[in-house]
Amino acid sequence: MQKISEVVASTLKKMRDYAKPGMTARELDDFGGRLMNEAGAKSAPKLTYGFPGWTCISINHEVAHGIPSESKILQEGDLINIDVSAELDGFWADNGGSFILGEDINNHQPLVDASKMILQKAIGRIKGGVKISEIGRFIEMEARKSGFKVIKNLAGHGVGRSLHEDPHEILNCYDHDNKQRFKKNTVVAIETFISTNSTFANQQKDGWTLTGNKGGYVAQHEHTIIVTDGTPVILTAANEIY
Ligand code: CO
Ligand code: CO
Repeated sequence: MQKISEVVASTLKKMRDYAKPGMTARELDDFGGRLMNEAGAKSAPKLTYGFPGWTCISINHEVAHGIPSESKILQEGDLINIDVSAELDGFWADNGGSFILGEDINNHQPLVDASKMILQKAIGRIKGGVKISEIGRFIEMEARKSGFKVIKNLAGHGVGRSLHEDPHEILNCYDHDNKQRFKKNTVVAIETFISTNSTFANQQKDGWTLTGNKGGYVAQHEHTIIVTDGTPVILTAANEIY
């Protein structure tokens, strides 16, 4: 788990540094694909779902699962989310992050900062025995305190021997019916979906891209962590999202 987590985390960090205005999303994705290939890792979305890209690159109004196409040209001030997940020797890890390309001419920084901060705080509250629904409640409450909303139909998840495994729904909101608790020595991917307007993500006609039901912008940050008795071990810390 450490090895593959390190690969996806350093790939995400290097892609973030590599992104420049004028570049196509495809070029950025190909760069990430090369890094994973050199490390012997296989793209999880491609392997699991036949996704048309090595990584998911969602720009501006795209919430998640954006296709890294040639027709998307990165621009100064864009809100970009890159999600990198991959498999190596039968182990899987997942991480992601939103950032602003170049100068913040569209004022996305408060949203990005809130998402990052909420992920950090939420991870700090996770340990064996904690109810999954309580973390959802916490994330939504923190988002509201920062003046934002959450996307209610996207979630973190167990990860390890496949990309998505039990627990399947670590939501960003309180789910009264979810009685599941985090278990010590399990690995989960925790991810935020902090939003300016929308509360649901809908799939577009391309069969992949998710956009918000009320428009606006969404920031996502994700780490793969080991649940312990105390502070979780952040396996994807090398992505430098703190
Ligand atoms: Co992910
Ligand atoms: Co994930």
